[in-house]
Amino acid sequence: MTNIYNVLIIGAGKIGAFFDAPDSENILTHAHAFSTHQKFNLIGFVDKDFQASSKAAQLWNCKAFKSIQDAFLKNKIDVVVVAVPDEYHYQVLKGALNYKVKLIFAEKPLTKTLKQAEEIIDLSKKKEIPILVNYSRRFVPEFIELKNKIQKNELGSFVGGCGYCGKGFLHNGSHLIDLLNCFSLSIENVDVVSKMYDFFDDDSTISAVLKLKNNTTFFLQGVNCSLYTIFELDLFFEKARIRIVDSGFSIEYFFVKESVVFKGYKNLSLQCKVQTKLDKSLLFAIQNIADFLDGKTELLCSVQDAILIMKTCLI
Ligand SMILES: NC(=O)c1ccc[n+]([C@@H]2O[C@H](COP(=O)([O-])OP(=O)(O)OC[C@H]3O[C@@H](n4cnc5c(N)ncnc54)[C@H](O)[C@@H]3O)[C@@H](O)[C@H]2O)c1
Repeated sequence: MTNIYNVLIIGAGKIGAFFDAPDSENILTHAHAFSTHQKFNLIGFVDKDFQASSKAAQLWNCKAFKSIQDAFLKNKIDVVVVAVPDEYHYQVLKGALNYKVKLIFAEKPLTKTLKQAEEIIDLSKKKEIPILVNYSRRFVPEFIELKNKIQKNELGSFVGGCGYCGKGFLHNGSHLIDLLNCFSLSIENVDVVSKMYDFFDDDSTISAVLKLKNNTTFFLQGVNCSLYTIFELDLFFEKARIRIVDSGFSIEYFFVKESVVFKGYKNLSLQCKVQTKLDKSLLFAIQNIADFLDGKTELLCSVQDAILIMKTCLI
């Protein structure tokens, strides 16, 4: 018999409900991912703004609840999604951990402070409720493939890199830090060069020199993302250069080639540009949830991964 898991989404905002619609090709909302996947049944939404949850419920053909208590009183819920703004993650996660659910799918960052994150991790252990954190690129097959290539040393050792991002070091920069961690490029030190506040008063966008393992460096250029959005990484290995561009919708692979112009010189030549399925990351993430709940696999982004990121971002 196949298990079907009932889902409640807390936070009927952009990523919860409104980045897309049932007929969109892209899968950009939790609502779209869970209502598309046959292992899940989207029960409904809770939002502190009941108009928002009602509008979301209408769009996604499910129910709107006035409170989390109300939702649990009337339904058996297996999975809770926390998709409220960063500053409410702690409070809402703590509330959700009061209920006997099988898993919580939490938006990033896990919380705003390390103390809050440690408390959530302790509670999750005590209550035996696993939490998957949505560092979206971790779930995308093309990023998993790149991670495997790096781990199998197919590209050679890492020699250095740089990246661009903005909209807060914790809020958005944490995606970049997560990729470095995911590729086992462990960060030993962050030397901040400058700070700016492009989106949040309490979460600056930083430019910094990151000291990585084996005495290598990664230069992070903070960009004012109130002008435009940018998220890019440029990673140099002994045998290849990897450019993650267009927010991660493309990965460019460059390999070492003999120069056709200057005899004896070696250049980096673009071999392929892979289009990733980042537009479906939520579908891959919930596939990970389904496989985990069915006892087939581990979670691809755990609270331990999330707290490691926070230790770098909360400097
Ligand atoms: N993983 C990713 O790539 C990714 C992408 C976008 C957003 N996010 C994260 O998702 C979260 C939500 O972002 P968004 O852009 O959808 O925000 P949003 O402001 O569009 O929506 C948030 C919703 O939560 C509701 N809300 C606020 N506090 C609440 C509470 N205590 N209880 C119930 N509802 C509450 C608001 O009324 C609003 O409807 C953020 O933490 C953000 O970092 C992650």
